[in-house]
Amino acid sequence: MKALTFKRYSKSPEIGFTQVPRPTIKPDELLVEIHAAGLNPIDNMIPTGMFKPVLKFELPAVMGSDLAGIVIEVGSAVTKFKVGDAIFASLFDLGNGSITEFAAVPERVAAQKPDTLDFVQAASIPMVGLTSWQALKERANIKSGQKIFIPAGSGGIGTFAIQLAKYLGAKVATTTSTGNVDMVRKLGADEVIDYKKQEFEQVLSSYDLVLGTTRGDAIEKSVGILKPGGKIVSLIGPLDKAFANARRMNFFLTFVFGMMSRKIMRLAKKKNISYSFLFVRPDGAQLNEIGNLLKTERIKPVIDKVFPFEHAKQALEYLAQGRAKGKVVVKIK
Ligand SMILES: NC(=O)c1ccc[n+]([C@@H]2O[C@H](COP(=O)([O-])OP(=O)(O)OC[C@H]3O[C@@H](n4cnc5c(N)ncnc54)[C@H](OP(=O)(O)O)[C@@H]3O)[C@@H](O)[C@H]2O)c1
Repeated sequence: MKALTFKRYSKSPEIGFTQVPRPTIKPDELLVEIHAAGLNPIDNMIPTGMFKPVLKFELPAVMGSDLAGIVIEVGSAVTKFKVGDAIFASLFDLGNGSITEFAAVPERVAAQKPDTLDFVQAASIPMVGLTSWQALKERANIKSGQKIFIPAGSGGIGTFAIQLAKYLGAKVATTTSTGNVDMVRKLGADEVIDYKKQEFEQVLSSYDLVLGTTRGDAIEKSVGILKPGGKIVSLIGPLDKAFANARRMNFFLTFVFGMMSRKIMRLAKKKNISYSFLFVRPDGAQLNEIGNLLKTERIKPVIDKVFPFEHAKQALEYLAQGRAKGKVVVKIK
């Protein structure tokens, strides 16, 4: 089958189409014919080798992790799905990729595709949906009326997380550039800061939660807008000791991650707030709950651009520019 792969970890990882064997499934897996693959910034980071100590792939590795498609075969131990079901899933952290024609998908990470969404819309959801869910609901347990700062409201994460936070009853502030101000307001943001004109740390105060989504010194500056007891849940790092411990990493990596997060931990302690790094995990049961919110249109997918399969590499290059308004998706079938 045809797949977009990278051949080595490097600045020039040789990304291109390759013929790879069609997967054979284990008893707890589904063989899925992929109709669409959603892209995420980490798809561009993995081939550089920056996640090599954390994410394991056999090379050449199939790129991408989000998918929507049709089940064409089920393993002997599968109970929740049958041949012909339309599903969506994240293969993140499973050593497997989605920018290809078929994938073996463990039953535990798949969910029925909401029938109100087409395959492209469904494939845009898994990583941003699960990350937002795990950050806002699971890690921060946000409550109605709390104030949440979600920077980069126009990105893949921002467009989903703003809608989820509003659904949970929070008051949401976000940042974006001038051209996207209306877009993020329409998604529900209560306070919109045009970062080309204003610094968020001079406008916001007494927040309960910051979702760390933008690089540079934004995480450190966020400390100043939180109330005592507030939280930073960062998606971009620095990685911390708790992350290393949860993944049972060796002493050396645990030490390195501890050092990387030392400064933010110190700042957080001084202000009586908490800092943690979140690494999304695939979860079919959560994706099912997310699917229910999509089905009832409480949350809507926001798609920026759809590329045909042959242009998957250009789709990744487009995403790498960092200007996507919502999600970038590759239509495979
Ligand atoms: N830890 C995890 O498990 C996890 C999971 C998912 C994502 N992530 C990370 O989370 C980050 C966000 O992901 P994403 O999917 O949302 O990326 P994305 O879709 O590529 O984000 C693009 C958006 O970011 C906005 N943006 C860029 N710089 C900005 C700034 N300084 N201030 C405000 N907005 C800015 C852009 O808006 P303008 O054009 O208006 O600037 C654009 O709309 C990435 O670093 C990703 O790797 C981590």
